[in-house]
Amino acid sequence: MNGNDETRALVTLRVHRFTPRAERNRSRSGSPFAKQSSPFGSSSARRPRGKQWVQDYELSVLPDTTILDCLLTIKRTQDPSLAFRYSCGHGMCGSDAVAVNGTPTLLCTAKVKDWATPDRQAAIDDDGFRKTASADDASPAPVQGGNSLGVIELAALPGFPVQRDLIADIDPMLEQIKRLKPYLQASGKLATTKDGNVDVFEYLQQPEQLAAYETLSNCIACGVCEGSCPVFAGGEAFIGPAALITASRFINDSRDTAADARMDAIDTADGIAACQSVRACSRQCPRGIDVGEEIWQLIAKVKERQ
Ligand code: SF4
Ligand code: FES
Repeated sequence: MNGNDETRALVTLRVHRFTPRAERNRSRSGSPFAKQSSPFGSSSARRPRGKQWVQDYELSVLPDTTILDCLLTIKRTQDPSLAFRYSCGHGMCGSDAVAVNGTPTLLCTAKVKDWATPDRQAAIDDDGFRKTASADDASPAPVQGGNSLGVIELAALPGFPVQRDLIADIDPMLEQIKRLKPYLQASGKLATTKDGNVDVFEYLQQPEQLAAYETLSNCIACGVCEGSCPVFAGGEAFIGPAALITASRFINDSRDTAADARMDAIDTADGIAACQSVRACSRQCPRGIDVGEEIWQLIAKVKERQ
């Protein structure tokens, strides 16, 4: 036995699985959760139908192992049919957001030791009642120690249609971001130098001008804030926090000359008016953006114009 073997322990990944039923002419546009018609999403799409079940996978891991690495091991050694999405593996691409114990987060940065909890299902007896604690087991089972780290529950990102197992269809969010024109809009012609080259100094900014949007430009469109938002994930017509962060990023950029049009685009019933300032969107942003605060400032900026 080497040093690693000594610190290994069992963890159970409890995965909410889904296999879609084949459907003809299924529309993929818009959010199937929107209750009202919205310029940002169509309510015509339906919830995908198919087979749903919960499957437990047990494996021996080091506590520092990421949940993504656990899933890769399961896929290689236990069940090649398990579906999940990832790309960079380092918190940069945003493709692997799922609900871990009900909390949206990235698989590649979530470590087993931070998410494993005592198995609540083991505390339910065969008749579906909570087992009565005896004097010996009155305190909760330790998360670490012994031979088991506990259970981690995984499900697809809330607020989006599930495509298969842990893969959510985030196209509705990407469409919303696209509608807000996520690129710099500078008016007029590019300034040129006397010899006809583009004047690269035209768009120089002061450090404080950069600071106004730099953090926001780190958004990787992972959808964690959208899955955390009870308004968006709850199915209300709302363009969502990720789209508002995109709008804010360009409104705050001194080089952009379309701020008014951008504010018009979000000054709608399903834009900033739909935000209920719950601020759940801020809790798990992997890029450290205080999403709720940024949206709050954005709302103030839009209202200042009125
Ligand atoms: S604001 Fe943060 S949580 Fe929301 S999409 Fe961007 S990176 Fe993800
Ligand atoms: S795999 Fe790219 S952010 Fe997790």
